[in-house]
Amino acid sequence: MAISRTFMSVNLFIFFLVIATTNGQAPAPTPSGPTNITAVLEKAGQYTMFIRLLKSTQAADQINTQLNSSSSQGLTVFAPTDNAFSSLKSGTLNSLSDQQKVQLVQFHVLPTLLTMPQFQTVSNPLRTQAGDGQNGKFPLNITSSGNQVNITTGVVSATVANSVYSDKQIAVYQVDQVLLPLAMFGSSSAAPAPAPEKGGSVTTGSASGSDGGGDSTDSSDAERIRYGIIATVAAIAASSLWI
Ligand SMILES: *[C@@H]1O[C@H](CO)[C@@H](O)[C@H](O)[C@H]1NC(C)=O
Ligand SMILES: *[C@@H]1O[C@H](CO)[C@@H](O)[C@H](O)[C@H]1NC(C)=O
Ligand SMILES: *[C@@H]1O[C@H](CO)[C@@H](O)[C@H](O)[C@H]1NC(C)=O
Ligand SMILES: *[C@@H]1O[C@H](CO)[C@@H](O)[C@H](O)[C@H]1NC(C)=O
Repeated sequence: MAISRTFMSVNLFIFFLVIATTNGQAPAPTPSGPTNITAVLEKAGQYTMFIRLLKSTQAADQINTQLNSSSSQGLTVFAPTDNAFSSLKSGTLNSLSDQQKVQLVQFHVLPTLLTMPQFQTVSNPLRTQAGDGQNGKFPLNITSSGNQVNITTGVVSATVANSVYSDKQIAVYQVDQVLLPLAMFGSSSAAPAPAPEKGGSVTTGSASGSDGGGDSTDSSDAERIRYGIIATVAAIAASSLWI
């Protein structure tokens, strides 16, 4: 009798603990908050290098702040894949100053939201966050026909592969090349001397291109709860041994 009563109260105890745990952790994956560019790209996969640049230049914070501001007119981000970065001449990024890295990242961001159909009607050159699109500075031209959308910078010609993410505030597109601005790479079409291959190459994870379908947070919650239960049972078992 006594045993089964303890057993029941232990069960009740666990029950309440589980409820407390679930309630306590519920607010963790709030998808309703402002869009988080880092989280969007992490979820999409294959943008390790771009994420690293976004973080190291603090551009990620700026973008997130902008997305959380009611006066924002939206943003368009062209996200180069890890493959795009590894196809750069080696040493390209290392040859840039911190300021140039900031400009390079900002060159991938337009201060307005452009949907795919709007690419057909943009007027070139487009204005990027890096600034002046006119003569020899940071021009970015979009040409499109049908579903094909190309971007030219005067240095590289890239193709917009597909839409990674979009909502009311931001559109993120995959591009197959790092968009090198004319102001920084224009004169050096002879390019900085290719340094000997070493390090730097990103091991591109499987380019599984997993769109949407975000139950990863759910399963990790379930896991946390499961661990909570196991830990509780262990703790109770241990304490009953003491008594
Ligand atoms: C955005 O997401 C990243 C990675 O998921 C996280 O480290 C960062 O704290 C988030 N930023 C904000 C403002 O929520
Ligand atoms: C978004 O803006 C609101 C109001 O300015 C602020 O309270 C909130 O902390 C911001 N959220 C993030 C994630 O920056
Ligand atoms: C885009 O670029 C590809 C290859 O570089 C080219 O074949 C295609 O004609 C271009 N399309 C447009 C619309 O510029
Ligand atoms: C971009 O478009 C403008 C206007 O059509 C043109 O003058 C300029 O040469 C173009 N630049 C590149 C790099 O295509």
